[in-house]
Amino acid sequence: MSSSTPLDLSHHLSSEAKARIANPMKSIWKLIQQRPDVVMLANGASMADTPSGDPHPSLYPLRKVEFELASTTHGDPVRTWTSLGPAAPSVLLSSSTSSPSALPLNLALQYTNGAGRPEAQRAATTLTQFYHAPPDHVTTLTLGNFDGVTKCFRLLGESGDSLLADEFAFRAITNAAAPQGVRWVPVSMDEGGMVPERLEAILDGWEERMGRKPHVLYTVPCGQNPTGTTLNIERRRSIYAIAQRHDLIIIEDDPYYFLQYPPDRITPHPLVPSFLSLDTDGRVIRLDSLSKVLAPGLRLGWLTSSSAFHAHLIALTDSSTQHPHGLGQAFLAELLSPSGWGLAGFDRWVDSLRGEYRRRRDFFMHEFERRVAVPTGVLASACAPEAGMFVWIRVCIERHPRYLGNLDVQGEATGRARTNGAQLMEELFLRCLDSGLVIVPASVFALSRDPERLERDDSAVPIEDRSNFLRATFAGTEETMCRGLEILGEVIGNFFGG
Ligand SMILES: Cc1ncc(COP(=O)(O)O)c(C=O)c1O
Repeated sequence: MSSSTPLDLSHHLSSEAKARIANPMKSIWKLIQQRPDVVMLANGASMADTPSGDPHPSLYPLRKVEFELASTTHGDPVRTWTSLGPAAPSVLLSSSTSSPSALPLNLALQYTNGAGRPEAQRAATTLTQFYHAPPDHVTTLTLGNFDGVTKCFRLLGESGDSLLADEFAFRAITNAAAPQGVRWVPVSMDEGGMVPERLEAILDGWEERMGRKPHVLYTVPCGQNPTGTTLNIERRRSIYAIAQRHDLIIIEDDPYYFLQYPPDRITPHPLVPSFLSLDTDGRVIRLDSLSKVLAPGLRLGWLTSSSAFHAHLIALTDSSTQHPHGLGQAFLAELLSPSGWGLAGFDRWVDSLRGEYRRRRDFFMHEFERRVAVPTGVLASACAPEAGMFVWIRVCIERHPRYLGNLDVQGEATGRARTNGAQLMEELFLRCLDSGLVIVPASVFALSRDPERLERDDSAVPIEDRSNFLRATFAGTEETMCRGLEILGEVIGNFFGG
């Protein structure tokens, strides 16, 4: 664990966050935590039974829940689980009202505070400590990264703010900030992800007429959605140093962290250090999720931040989603307990999952070469991603017979598209759809620059002229990959041929 000096970063808080009034019931609940002997007429019963809420647990019509999940005590648990089917060894976790449980059901099913039940919160903290060892940070449960990230936008985003993000972004999330009056400033990317020099150029060149200088950077550092890129440690250090120089808060949305496939296998775990692990100032808010390593329907994740931001996030959660559902919290607490997977078992599972996704990725790349790149004369190309689930396929749109490369000679000054590449990509997407293939065009993810706020140093080609990519996933079965890539190869061949 590195040493740190958390800074006072409260000037980053939104007026919404500053104006929020704490949920008064939760404040009382916090007080009675120190008084287990009190008689509860405020809620259901005495503290011993029900620390936080009514109705009384004796009226819950649930006695026990059981979760049967893969055993992780041997070699390659994901392989065993998928290949042996119902015969695969499993482990039974249970939480009940009567027998000892890591998180007894009668407690799990009650209201709790925004950070989650302490037992479940501790389980998430164990994971964060093991993988990131951040100094002076607190973990709080979320309903997954979507929930966590959008809460961060409300914590920090102000109407009129310009916030920074990867230029191709998961728009489902970035769009969530639009109704708050937040605008996005896209930061150029290359095959290594966000380019630190471009980030610094934007900040150095920011002028007063452009409004408040960006104070938040939202980024997906591993297996970025959609480009599949992963920031290496040098870029992470540079970006963190820029964040320190320009006083940025980094929102590190990292659902693909556990799915990293670096070229060399290094033990004990070959994962690139997170921004959180570099954070000495308390300027990183990190989001982790169980969606990509266990199941998205669990709706469980956790957020790690300084205690100051934690307090504000809890206030927001206490007055909105309250906390993840009790069954999920019981599951997490049991999973990480000695009678469940424990930390070692969890680590074996994610290591094995990495192996499985690496196999799928390699299969995808092999079939892509065979069914798309070679037969079309390399009209499309792709690099194997080092993390995540996505392959970013470049289409050589400039080789299309109807491609026009110089539509708008004023383009350089105005930031408008200079080519008809975007229209051709739209046509290609529709042709794929007609042939029964759904593949996502880059235009869906592109964050356009605001023409009125072109950065002084911005020499980049407009994003519309660089959106000649398609996002595909290798998360599916081999059969789906083969069929999908076969269609893609045929459609591209025909599209360029006529
Ligand atoms: C970058 C990114 N952030 C967040 C999410 C949502 O994750 P969760 O299921 O944890 O809400 C996804 C994927 O669905 C994603 O790709």
